[in-house]
Amino acid sequence: MNFETDKILEEIFEIISINKDRETVLEQISRLLKEKVFHYDWVGFYLMDKMKSGLVLGPYTGAHTDHTFISVGKGVCGQVAQNKTTMVVQDVTKMENYLSCSINVQSEIVVPVLKDGEFVAELDIDSHSPAPFTENDTIFLEKICKELAVFFNSIAN
Ligand code: SME
Repeated sequence: MNFETDKILEEIFEIISINKDRETVLEQISRLLKEKVFHYDWVGFYLMDKMKSGLVLGPYTGAHTDHTFISVGKGVCGQVAQNKTTMVVQDVTKMENYLSCSINVQSEIVVPVLKDGEFVAELDIDSHSPAPFTENDTIFLEKICKELAVFFNSIAN
């Protein structure tokens, strides 16, 4: 699906430049993305907790989720934590290693945030549309995640 990425990126860069607090930045970005992109229905961040070998739910915009902690390797989110690369799932019913949040979700994209090559967090987006994601989404979201590395330490978060 097509959408205007440049204008949204400008707004995101502004959020990043005026806020020093990570929670605030992640919260505002999740809200903006959900509001501006029609096929983004749940937008949130999971943060790596090395002590627990898993992901802790961070700021998000959208429906409540029971998945407040996800072990590395579990579900789409856990696989991205393990492989450190973006995963696009155009049809979640075809995915075996998947953690369902709601029956409305049809597709999902998860993009890692890397700090000095190390996985520190990820941006998770669920969509109620079938197969909505294109290369456009991947490029756009990877640009955002690249900018977010500055808010993380490489040792712990
Ligand atoms: N579907 C994800 C779980 C997180 S929720 O989408 C918010 C997964 O399979 O890891």
